[in-house]
Amino acid sequence: MPSMHYTKLGWTDLSVSVIALGCAQFSEQFSKTQKSEADMLAILRRALDLGINLWDTAPSYGNGVSETIVGKAIQGCRDQVVLATKIKYGHTTPEAVERSCEESLRRLHTDYIDVLQVHWPAEQVLNEQTLIGLWRLVQTGKVRYAGVSNFNQDQMEQAASICPIISNQLPYALVWRYDEPLIRYCGASRKIGVLAYSPLGEGILTGRYDEQTIFPPHDVRNHCVFFKPAVRPLALKVTDAARQVGERYGLTPAQVAITWTAHQPGISSVIVGSSSVPQLEQNAAAVSIQMDKEDEALLAAASDEYMAKAPRYRTMWEK
Ligand SMILES: NC(=O)c1ccc[n+]([C@@H]2O[C@H](COP(=O)([O-])OP(=O)(O)OC[C@H]3O[C@@H](n4cnc5c(N)ncnc54)[C@H](OP(=O)(O)O)[C@@H]3O)[C@@H](O)[C@H]2O)c1
Repeated sequence: MPSMHYTKLGWTDLSVSVIALGCAQFSEQFSKTQKSEADMLAILRRALDLGINLWDTAPSYGNGVSETIVGKAIQGCRDQVVLATKIKYGHTTPEAVERSCEESLRRLHTDYIDVLQVHWPAEQVLNEQTLIGLWRLVQTGKVRYAGVSNFNQDQMEQAASICPIISNQLPYALVWRYDEPLIRYCGASRKIGVLAYSPLGEGILTGRYDEQTIFPPHDVRNHCVFFKPAVRPLALKVTDAARQVGERYGLTPAQVAITWTAHQPGISSVIVGSSSVPQLEQNAAAVSIQMDKEDEALLAAASDEYMAKAPRYRTMWEK
């Protein structure tokens, strides 16, 4: 197995793996594949063996279930993990931010969080209060660094004027490139790290699905934009390009898609959700893949065509 690569996150010395572990998969609500506790712990432990030290969770992933399993997995190895979690939705006052953090600390069985992120921006005034709360937590030492997620440039400016921000977590995949100017802004003007999420487009880029695939009623992909009838054929053309490129290197389309995101300018780490140890191992191996210029161009052309033709949605999930 190739060895993991690391980068310093944003303006800090915090060393994070360029492939991060998405922990939304450890919750019934966001999981596509059901897993036992033993399955989840096996994924988390294997992630550490593979050198994946950045783990991203949130209180909303299974209403605390994901944080609880992460809390079990870090016992005895807390110092080897860069633990990133988020502030609970709707917790926008400084007092509520502190409450959310205390609850996370309890579930995670630790006395500090490495990166505490505002999960989604609220209205401007509420963002300000949330960031004041976050900054207080950094000053107490319960949180090492403050991060945000899904913030636009104006919201980033406002956030950084209240509290030093280490990272912005943003969606970024061959089929979702709307934030490229923002990613450049984070890196160039502010030295803020970008944690890219959903690099597989929630699975559409893995090559496992076709136009006929039907998901069970509870499955999150029923309202994920890439699987909508008007979008799916367009997204599957990008998957075909990833498959075609992958065949030249003995790689899966998923590995090609992860590598593409990881290699884009301004990306610190790619947060991939893995539902099994074999998926995790495959995703971790994407770290050392080098594609030649012609293959990168082929992927870029497929992605450009998708971006030009696919309807633009506000988020990846629209009912
Ligand atoms: N900040 C935010 O607002 C936000 C939003 C979304 C996600 N995130 C973070 O980003 C992480 C990943 O995002 P995501 O789950 O939306 O999307 P993703 O990483 O694009 O897709 C993950 C899914 O792809 C499938 N998969 C993964 N590796 C595979 C492989 N090697 N071969 C075949 N299939 C594979 C799995 O599907 P199956 O389960 O069906 O096997 C997995 O659930 C989350 O866990 C979370 O930490 C953050």
